[in-house]
Amino acid sequence: MSETAKISIQGVETELPLLVGTENEVGIDISGLRAATGAVTLDFGYKNTGSTTSSITYLDGEAGILRHRGYSIEELADKAEFLEVAYLLINGELPTKEQYDAWDNEIRRHTLVNTDIQNMFDAWPTGSHPMGQLIAMISSLSSFYPESLNPNSGEEARMRTITRLLAKMPTLCAMISKNRIGHPIIYPKNNLSYVENYLNMTFKHVTEDYELDPVFVRAMNKLLILHADHEQNCSASTVRLVGSSHANLYASISAGVAALWGPLHGGANQQVIEMLEAIAADGGDAQKYIDKAKDKNDPFRLMGFGHRVYKNFDPRAIIIKKSADEVLEKLGVSDPTLEIAKKLEQAALSDPYFIERKLFPNVDFYSGIIYRAMGFPVEMFTVLFALGRLPGWIAQWREMMDDKQPIGRPRQIYTGPVSRSFTPLNERG
Ligand code: ACO
Repeated sequence: MSETAKISIQGVETELPLLVGTENEVGIDISGLRAATGAVTLDFGYKNTGSTTSSITYLDGEAGILRHRGYSIEELADKAEFLEVAYLLINGELPTKEQYDAWDNEIRRHTLVNTDIQNMFDAWPTGSHPMGQLIAMISSLSSFYPESLNPNSGEEARMRTITRLLAKMPTLCAMISKNRIGHPIIYPKNNLSYVENYLNMTFKHVTEDYELDPVFVRAMNKLLILHADHEQNCSASTVRLVGSSHANLYASISAGVAALWGPLHGGANQQVIEMLEAIAADGGDAQKYIDKAKDKNDPFRLMGFGHRVYKNFDPRAIIIKKSADEVLEKLGVSDPTLEIAKKLEQAALSDPYFIERKLFPNVDFYSGIIYRAMGFPVEMFTVLFALGRLPGWIAQWREMMDDKQPIGRPRQIYTGPVSRSFTPLNERG
């Protein structure tokens, strides 16, 4: 294979180096293109642009492959603890038993948040969306830990900031749940694992005992792992871009949470359930909604369908679908939205519109059904996604910082008016 790509632009020729990844992905390094030819590249939505090299996650959308640091998502979801996957993503290797115990212990020691954070809820109107609250709470951690403001203050300080954030995230998410329903918060119990602690803080009532259900714990552990990283998606790219200005980790992650909130990204999990409920309330006619999604004059889209990168199947959706069946069967829940989901999936997968455009159910299509069976309100679904995605965002941020990448600052093709002179206000017609 040629080691360069030849390009000729308006009579100026140049050769650009090729970069071949460990899985043989080929990229054209265009960093010298503008200097050599005066041209830049244009790629709306970055559909064809590699924004970085990365050794964290490998994704082959055609083959439906997702691997973190070389380990398949199927194996990780089946065999690992969420904090093991977090360690793997952030540090590059699976921890030894000793490393894991130290990591787990350090995270358990930092689960409490400053009680002043609770005061933030006084400022928000009842019914505020949990994602808006999460963004503000994560960002506010920089006020409580001002040493985090300088992300270049050394590895030890950086790891402390990372550990704090991982440790406090379940506490923040659970505080949001409790405040939504006007209940007192439940403090973390550090003899519980990461996942157990989160479920306990979310579902225990202050007046009652709460017994952790191992089915819930296993399902939650799996769901968090399935969301842990997904290379250069909208929110990870946001974390990298914000972090590239050397904004602190808390600010960078809260920006990632904001990107995740959108319905075309993580916010889709809330929208899927709302869509399924609307279809059920409208008589359960899946075909009617398939037709709406196909109608170019109708803005309706089948939420939970389609993916920028997966063009065959989303491996996470396959694992989640199996898990949803298991959880619902074990809990004896019969959810009419699951039946609608199955009808919708069958109808879409056999419809030429969806086949031609390679539109398949994505991770969000089934995750909401499990969350709902576990008792989470729909507004919390995207918060759960953020809880799972946190280690991936941190790993992406850390890699960008360790690589000493320059500030992210894309170019543009200007299409506005050319130079013209200013007419004073009283002379304008
Ligand atoms: N329902 C109906 N038609 C769709 C859908 C859908 N869910 N998704 C894509 N299409 C159609 C588009 O209208 C377009 O048709 P056209 O070629 O006739 O114009 C074609 O399929 C390609 O779609 P694009 O929007 O160009 O694809 P893109 O890669 O930009 O978007 C996205 C991907 C945002 C995920 C899109 O499929 C979508 O909106 N899906 C619904 C929202 C969703 O589930 N998001 C979660 C994604 S997973 C995640 O973030 C964790």
